[in-house]
Amino acid sequence: MYSLTQYTEFFTCYLKAELIHKEPKNLFEPISYMLSLGGKRTRPVLTLIASEIFDCNYQSALPAAVAVEVFHNSTLIHDDIIDDDPIRRGKPTVHQKWNTNAAILSGDAMIILTYQYLEQYQPSIAIALIKVINKMALEICEGQTLDVDFESRHDVTVAEYLKMIQYKTAVLIASSLKMGAVIAKASEKNCELIYDFGLNIGMAFQLQDDYLDIFGDTPTFGRRIGGDIIANKKTFLYLKSLELSAPAQKTQLQSLYDLRLVDNTEKIKKVTQLFVMSGVEKATQEAVAGYTLKAFDILNKLKIRENKKALLKEIGTNLMIRKV
Ligand code: IPE
Ligand code: IPE
Ligand code: MG
Ligand code: MG
Ligand code: MG
Repeated sequence: MYSLTQYTEFFTCYLKAELIHKEPKNLFEPISYMLSLGGKRTRPVLTLIASEIFDCNYQSALPAAVAVEVFHNSTLIHDDIIDDDPIRRGKPTVHQKWNTNAAILSGDAMIILTYQYLEQYQPSIAIALIKVINKMALEICEGQTLDVDFESRHDVTVAEYLKMIQYKTAVLIASSLKMGAVIAKASEKNCELIYDFGLNIGMAFQLQDDYLDIFGDTPTFGRRIGGDIIANKKTFLYLKSLELSAPAQKTQLQSLYDLRLVDNTEKIKKVTQLFVMSGVEKATQEAVAGYTLKAFDILNKLKIRENKKALLKEIGTNLMIRKV
């Protein structure tokens, strides 16, 4: 097996050669732009690693890794329209740089390209991969819809939130791993275990994402800080703060969150102060660590050599403490 840096390098080299430079420019330029902006490449690297863990050469998993990253990027382009976000990876979002129509269409084309990359596999593997993608893609749509529905609801529970993030985020991370396992023809049981490992690091990943939306910084995180507050997103930080706050602060937080303002600076500042007062930073970090440890427990059940688990543990740990 190689190191994380090497797998990332293998993937980025392969992806670079795959970028399409075709007409019409308004369709293909946003795709190349988005895919060239960088990003951590977490999901495709997971696909490559999963394939090698189950004794297959990572090279066979490269087209599926591209499929996973292209699909992820399509969700980001559409997510930035939905969330009205101006920056992604430190650069203007596609709908800002082009326009909403270009962002919808290039995102759509990327979903088709996802499937096209799988045409390279022999039929039985291709069908198995498509099944994984279909289930995951529909769940992402469900998760994203719940996320938006929750913006205008006042009775969202932590349990509902956890289901929402499982769907919008964790299933793609889990599926990226499972696809690598499918390519390696791993047993049904191992495919399930690696998927469950992914679900748990995926939950930790989205909790950390919510945390960084408030406590990160734009130059490092590459996104606007406080976007979730502006959109009244019912994140873990908001829901847990309500639980942890004294009655007066809870009321203050609820009424602040209902506001839709032209200048949100003050709203972000006050909500952040209330979050800090409630002690939710610690509660969030504990939840992130809790899901990561649960993932590691699942990994222990996998019957593969310990040295093969080390890379997955490294990724889990990196994601838990990530600032990017
Ligand atoms: C961002 O994903 C979207 C979420 C699911 C939170 P990443 O943080 O993996 O984004 P990139 O690809 O590294 O930019
Ligand atoms: C993104 O969730 C989930 C998907 C893209 C499917 P967020 O809306 O929290 O992601 P960021 O914070 O914009 O990256
Ligand atoms: Mg978003
Ligand atoms: Mg969103
Ligand atoms: Mg976010």
